[in-house]
Amino acid sequence: MCGIVGYIGTRSAPEFLLEGLTRLEYRGYDSAGVAVQHNGEIGIRKKVGRVEELGKLLASKPVRGSVGIGHTRWATHGGISDVNSHPHVGGNGEVVLVHNGVIENYAKLKEQLQALGYVFRTATDSEVIAHLIAHHLEEQIKLGEDPESQETCLKAIELSLKKLKGTYGLGIIFRDVADTIFAVRLGSPLVIGVGKGEHFLASDASPLAGYTDEVVYLSDNETAVLRADHMEISHRDGGRLKPSVQTINQVTVDLDLGRFEHYMLKEIFEQPESIENCLRGRIDEDSATAKFGGLNIEPQDLRLVDRIVLTACGTSWHAGLVGEYLIEEFARIPVEVEYASELRYRNPPLSDRTMVFAITQSGETADTLAAMRECKRKGHKSLAICNVVGSTIAREADGGIYLHAGPEIGVASTKAFTSQCTALVMLALYLGRMRHLSYHAGKRIIAQLREMPDMVRRTLQCHDAVKEVANKYQGFDNFLYLGRLYNFPAALEGALKLKEISYIHAEGYPAAEMKHGPIALVDEETPSVFIIPRGSIYPKVMSNLEEIKARRGPVIAIACEGDHRIADLADDVIYVPEVDDFLQPIVTSVPLQLLAYHIALKRGCNVDRPRNLAKSVTVE
Ligand code: AGP
Ligand code: GLU
Repeated sequence: MCGIVGYIGTRSAPEFLLEGLTRLEYRGYDSAGVAVQHNGEIGIRKKVGRVEELGKLLASKPVRGSVGIGHTRWATHGGISDVNSHPHVGGNGEVVLVHNGVIENYAKLKEQLQALGYVFRTATDSEVIAHLIAHHLEEQIKLGEDPESQETCLKAIELSLKKLKGTYGLGIIFRDVADTIFAVRLGSPLVIGVGKGEHFLASDASPLAGYTDEVVYLSDNETAVLRADHMEISHRDGGRLKPSVQTINQVTVDLDLGRFEHYMLKEIFEQPESIENCLRGRIDEDSATAKFGGLNIEPQDLRLVDRIVLTACGTSWHAGLVGEYLIEEFARIPVEVEYASELRYRNPPLSDRTMVFAITQSGETADTLAAMRECKRKGHKSLAICNVVGSTIAREADGGIYLHAGPEIGVASTKAFTSQCTALVMLALYLGRMRHLSYHAGKRIIAQLREMPDMVRRTLQCHDAVKEVANKYQGFDNFLYLGRLYNFPAALEGALKLKEISYIHAEGYPAAEMKHGPIALVDEETPSVFIIPRGSIYPKVMSNLEEIKARRGPVIAIACEGDHRIADLADDVIYVPEVDDFLQPIVTSVPLQLLAYHIALKRGCNVDRPRNLAKSVTVE
């Protein structure tokens, strides 16, 4: 959600900004813009739509210079329009900024600034920051401060920040202060790239790949002053900080689609490899357990844990549900799965021995970060299961497990989900082997886990069958997704995928719970996707399926290879390989991802950039 970029050095700023914004496109946005400073003037170009559109605008109306900031906006306050796009101008053009986040007290500040004569041009919350800084700048100048000095600008920024309530990542330039970019962070991620005689600014490290691998992650309440050959960082409480420069292993966001039409499809097909990468080096055959390099918690302390809270949003929350079933079954530790957006304000009673795991692909989800911080503040050990290396949650957690799934660009999460489930199987195995799980049980789990990349490879062979089913059902407007035990979270995930990218109403339900209400929805126009692989409760799910058929509801079954009985009952069947119950969601979610993909495609939807959604939800 929203991307910020900045550049100061000797290169052409607009070129870097455009490329950087393209690399941040995957985060989700609805408009884009840049501001470039040159010879005491700031040129601004902004446009609704793709970064490509901004590129065209820049080609026809170029801006030149080697200092600039850029932004992709995911609108929170004010409609999606050229004028509401960032950058925004403060005062009479002396301040220009880009903002990621939400200013909660913007309405009050706007009133105060309007009373002082500031004219608002947009309906955004962000514009108040620009005018507020312009106002404090003017006050400083009246006090006799030098308008062209970096210190005066810094003072104006600091005074303004004191009045803001909410979250922000900011890139700011001043018309009269040549060759300086200011960057501020509270709640929205910012990373500084350190080059030779140049500095870069970005929401995450992907725009820096190929330019530098030396980075400084800005922390909350820090302000950076960037010049071509100099950087200063200060903390809100006062005092300079010594920038901690880290060398990162650059993972270039692979923008090459290869043989695929969309990132989502590419990522679905990457799953055998992403699962393999998640497993790599983490199996301890001798002890029949899993091993993790980064948990940062001693086995003795882990043994004392008497409750686990898994907190996440969206797809990651669904993986959390799979985790609950796994950990309770293998390790017998009570688990709660909490929506991060609820947990952050809910204040549930947590014992001293409660351990918290945040599950997140991006590591930047604002709600998940806030929930984790709240638990940390209360003194709970907080760990993360995360994909993006160096993301805020990964850095702030006490320890954790990286997914190593590689960059996920499609807004609809696919490979991250199956990798999260894989990581959670290993975590449950590890915790279980410390407690009740026998050596032999551990060995059996490991043997099956090792087969998962191949099982998913085999599952992908259902692609053509799914295409046919998608063709047949593309016109329906309501779907039910039903599954039990480990396939209940898979049902939720299947329904979410369909909603997200095809805008069809879909509900996921535990298959047996359906008769307590949703069955009223069943008719010839409401297909049910039944996840019914062979397993411990196969006959029970079969009865639920019969209940739907008795009411003339069309049924699409996700069933095990060789299950002939199901073919007589269901209208359509998609076959997947047979695996043990606890591994089923890793296999059954694959045809559900493909089904959503092909239905969306048939309905002419933009699968990689579904409307209203962002990849990284960095606002509350
Ligand atoms: C998944 O398809 C969604 N786009 C969304 O629900 C996502 O899983 C959620 O926003 C959490 O993101 P995270 O894993 O990066 O924290
Ligand atoms: N709240 C700001 C807006 O609506 C910033 C949104 C964003 O982070 O992209 O313009």
